Amino acid sequence: MAVAPTTETGTDADLPRIDRPVVLVGLMGAGKSCVGRKLAESLGLPFMDSDNEVEEAAGCEVRDIFEVYGEPAFRDCERRVIQRLLQGGPAVIATGGGAFMDPATREDVKAHAISVWLRADPEVLYQRTKRSRNRPLLAKDDPLQVLKDLAEQRYPVYAEADIVIDTGNEGLEKTLRKTIDALRLDAAGDTTS
Ligand code: S3P
Repeated sequence: MAVAPTTETGTDADLPRIDRPVVLVGLMGAGKSCVGRKLAESLGLPFMDSDNEVEEAAGCEVRDIFEVYGEPAFRDCERRVIQRLLQGGPAVIATGGGAFMDPATREDVKAHAISVWLRADPEVLYQRTKRSRNRPLLAKDDPLQVLKDLAEQRYPVYAEADIVIDTGNEGLEKTLRKTIDALRLDAAGDTTS
């Protein structure tokens, strides 16, 4: 009897079949890049991070793009980068927290990808982001309040994602396992999760 090789998250036989890009959405600090990298590894897919791709295209860091060119220029670049990434076939794509708020990007993601919202409370996100220096939206006097305000504006829109994963303070492996399980159900056509 052939035994499926084991992976960190179970056996290869347990892995969902992915035929489109998997796009991670959520607020800053939700774990899109960390979970995304691990997810890509587990699924044997390429990993891409839209912020990194924007930085590469612009030749400077996100905070410098905001400072020198302004947020609208960042959003334009982000939209074009994600449009390109979505055309590259199955992959795991971590997006910046504002990307899914852009109506054109959202439509593009809905048409070409499986979207996964990593949901967490603003307090958890604050703890995870408080030492970050490359998040211009949080470079304010009260970043926790900024996160709370963004959650209020954005969570109803993030809720349009195909899959919602509640993350809380759990470790990366647990979020990864939950994401893979949800993708497997989604691939099997089960929409009740
Ligand atoms: C932003 C989130 C950031 C980055 C930019 C704007 C946002 O990405 O794209 O600073 O609008 O929420 P992360 O969510 O990866 O931190």
